[in-house]
Amino acid sequence: MTPATACVSSESASPFPAVPSPLRVAVLASGRGSNLEALIDARAREELPIELVVVGSNRERCRALSVANGAGIATFALDPARFHERAAFDRAMFDALETAVPDLVVLAGYMRIIDETVVATAPWPMINIHPSLLPLYPGLDTHARALAAGDAQHGASVHAVIPALDAGPVIAQVRIPLCTGDTPDAIAQRLRPREHALLIATVRLFAERRITVEPAGIQFDGSRLAAPLFLDPNDDRLHPTRAAADR
Ligand code: GRF
Repeated sequence: MTPATACVSSESASPFPAVPSPLRVAVLASGRGSNLEALIDARAREELPIELVVVGSNRERCRALSVANGAGIATFALDPARFHERAAFDRAMFDALETAVPDLVVLAGYMRIIDETVVATAPWPMINIHPSLLPLYPGLDTHARALAAGDAQHGASVHAVIPALDAGPVIAQVRIPLCTGDTPDAIAQRLRPREHALLIATVRLFAERRITVEPAGIQFDGSRLAAPLFLDPNDDRLHPTRAAADR
């Protein structure tokens, strides 16, 4: 693959079709909350037919909770140090989520590994946004690892959460070129708005009831999704085939 020359991107607004009822979305976040903010803003622009029912965190003081509070969204925070084991903390987080009766739980910068026995009991679909082209680079330091490997392209993935870290079926991806002289920080800055567009587009498909997470895999428009959807840089929509501009 040859790196493209342009390293800029833009988000575009588009109308959404009528849906039965707004999808009830809960978010878990631990830090900056820019992905959460992107969902809130898309909702405010009426581009995303969802209701953000609760935002939970493992950090009582983090920007994500301030963003949620500022938008009038219910929040909760639990301190892991007050629990004797990981599973007890995770169970308490899930119990708190459950009181909000979500249709979908989004891990948006939730910097904790959730106990796999607890993940297995989730009564709602859960998705996570991860800054790499999974299955490449699960875990941390993804931008540095892509650079070290000499990759020509990098990106972000939204995947279903299963009881293994960053390993669930990938629903959708966005790609960016890696440019000469790139640094992890420069990549993070360039990728972030594309991550936001990817998350918005993926949640929109859930809200439109076009994607479901089934035991047999991801269903998209009534068929099993065999490969990740791609975010088209021209319209910020997800398509089964990569746009020519993105190849
Ligand atoms: C994002 O890069 C996301 O891919 C990763 O954590 C980061 C969260 O950023 N899982 P923010 O808190 O949403 O700004």
